[in-house]
Amino acid sequence: MTLRVLHPVPAPASGAGAEGHVAAELGTVVEADTDEGRARLRELYAPPAADWLRLNLITAVSGDAAGEDGTSDTLSNADDRAVLAAIRDLADGVLVGAASVRAEGYRVPRSAQLVVLTASGDLSGHRMDPERADRVVVVCPAAAVDRVTETLGPDVAARAAVLVVDDDDGQVAMATLVDRLRSHGLRSLVCEGGPSLAGQLLHDGLVDELCLSTSPVVIGSGLPVFGRERFDPSRLSLSQLMMDDQSALYARWLVADGPATRR
Ligand SMILES: NC(=O)c1ccc[n+]([C@@H]2O[C@H](COP(=O)([O-])OP(=O)(O)OC[C@H]3O[C@@H](n4cnc5c(N)ncnc54)[C@H](OP(=O)(O)O)[C@@H]3O)[C@@H](O)[C@H]2O)c1
Repeated sequence: MTLRVLHPVPAPASGAGAEGHVAAELGTVVEADTDEGRARLRELYAPPAADWLRLNLITAVSGDAAGEDGTSDTLSNADDRAVLAAIRDLADGVLVGAASVRAEGYRVPRSAQLVVLTASGDLSGHRMDPERADRVVVVCPAAAVDRVTETLGPDVAARAAVLVVDDDDGQVAMATLVDRLRSHGLRSLVCEGGPSLAGQLLHDGLVDELCLSTSPVVIGSGLPVFGRERFDPSRLSLSQLMMDDQSALYARWLVADGPATRR
């Protein structure tokens, strides 16, 4: 498990207040299966501001978000999981759409809160540990609350927070979602998908950064990594790039006019 930095993180200008940004020299090697390597990954992925919304997804070279099993599991590897863990550790909230919970059986992260957005309330197939359920947040319209309680199961539902938000025929506006999470104390957010949710956040200009893993495979799984809806382009700049010893790439792309730049 060796990650090599191919494009360095720029050192912040002194006094610029870009908390958490570290410089990494070109060629720096990170052994992601050691404590030192895991700590280094947390430094390398530190968000530059307290209020920050990043996407973290994995794509095949073909732009697909799922491998041959219909989930992202078969695109991922141990290095990708180490990067994912570091990004989760740095977040207050890990946000996912309910279809990803149903497809991938999401677990509660070790420190961040798990936030699930659903219109239907169907969270069946989840693998949330009741011991960690005080860090589960479900965001849904009022009409979905009963189904959320039913599909979470009594042990998880008893401790989870259900945030009821305004909707338009079941659909929650992305700005409403983000505002509600920030007022719930979740300032640093990472959305892990799926593509439909990630695409909506991009569409609405709410994303500060894309953390994108590229799996060295071409596949026609038919699930575009940022969804099927059209949205206007956002200009990106590459702030970091790493490669592992299986040719997978790990990029940090900053959104040039993301929300943090407008605050
Ligand atoms: N490559 C990756 O990094 C990655 C990451 C995650 C998932 N995946 C894969 O992606 C697939 C799932 O992604 P997906 O794009 O189909 O779905 P998704 O984004 O995970 O979830 C979509 C669901 O989220 C809820 N939702 C989304 N927007 C909403 C809104 N505006 N208001 C209310 N609820 C909303 C709805 O839940 P309800 O249906 O409950 O109403 C909707 O059906 C799976 O195959 C999964 O394995 C890949």
